[in-house]
Amino acid sequence: MWARIIFPLLLTIFVLPLLLQARDDFSRQPAGQVILTRHDRSDSDPQQAHIVFLSCSIQFKGDLGQTDWTASTLAHVDGQDYDVFLLPGDLSYANGHQPLWDSFGRLVEPSASRRPWMVTQGNHDIEILPNHPKGFVSYNSRWPMPYEESGSTSNLYYSFEVAGTHIIMLGSYTDFDVDSAQYKWLESDLARVDRNKTPWILVLLHAPWYNTNTAHQGEGESMRQSMEELFYKARVDVVFAGHVHAYERFEPASPLSLYREPSFGHGRFRILNETHAFWSWHRNNDADAIVADDVWFESLSTSKACWDTEQVPPSVSKDEL
Ligand SMILES: *[C@@H]1O[C@H](CO)[C@@H](O)[C@H](O)[C@H]1NC(C)=O
Repeated sequence: MWARIIFPLLLTIFVLPLLLQARDDFSRQPAGQVILTRHDRSDSDPQQAHIVFLSCSIQFKGDLGQTDWTASTLAHVDGQDYDVFLLPGDLSYANGHQPLWDSFGRLVEPSASRRPWMVTQGNHDIEILPNHPKGFVSYNSRWPMPYEESGSTSNLYYSFEVAGTHIIMLGSYTDFDVDSAQYKWLESDLARVDRNKTPWILVLLHAPWYNTNTAHQGEGESMRQSMEELFYKARVDVVFAGHVHAYERFEPASPLSLYREPSFGHGRFRILNETHAFWSWHRNNDADAIVADDVWFESLSTSKACWDTEQVPPSVSKDEL
């Protein structure tokens, strides 16, 4: 008698919420609806800038998310033409809530269907769940990148070439120590770069190796200690990171913070030819024409800057210097 009452009651208390949650997780939002997630800090807070970069005109953007800032950033980005969009992690901010991957896909589709979108992962893309202890199930399924083409065995790190540029996408949230598969792959990938064919080498990763903001202080340090030497030896031109919601640019080698501001925006890295590229930072709160920060780059494949004769990379013979 009691069992007849208690059993359905227990079923209602414990199983129904699970079913509802499951339904919620796998339900599809109506097409075209965009979920606007709330930002947890005010616009003026220094940790709030979403960063986009764009170059050659390749385009870069970190920590995209799904806020009205995302829409504003994408509108700014699409205001000018570009070849490739590069995103160093934190795509949907789904954090386990699967419909957010759908709404993120719909939000970026108008841009992502027009140009290649190349991404690497951020901490919000990990999604470790009880049945998926290694995480990245949605990220790897929804954003498969062409990693096998560059000899990588993981969707979390790979490289590709576009317009005279070798672009390396690294994984901040998979192993990176000297014995790791990622480190060994990076070493062999850098050794294969032909600077005559691709004079530029760019690297994207999520957690910055240099950062003067209080947020995420030191989070990229162990990866820096493991891999930075490889970058210097290979004369990598530029490293782009995401994670911290502020824009900051460092002088290479010093490393001296040269420019920092708490703003959303995107950047454009425009490669003019084999020796010169122009970087510009576009804040969302300005018209796109206003450039808040800019700098010329000279490719380290030909420039003698930062040259250490002990560190001649294998791909450049001394005669070419
Ligand atoms: C590359 O572009 C820069 C900047 O416009 C220019 O000064 C330089 O002469 C160009 N080099 C070549 C080889 O065209």
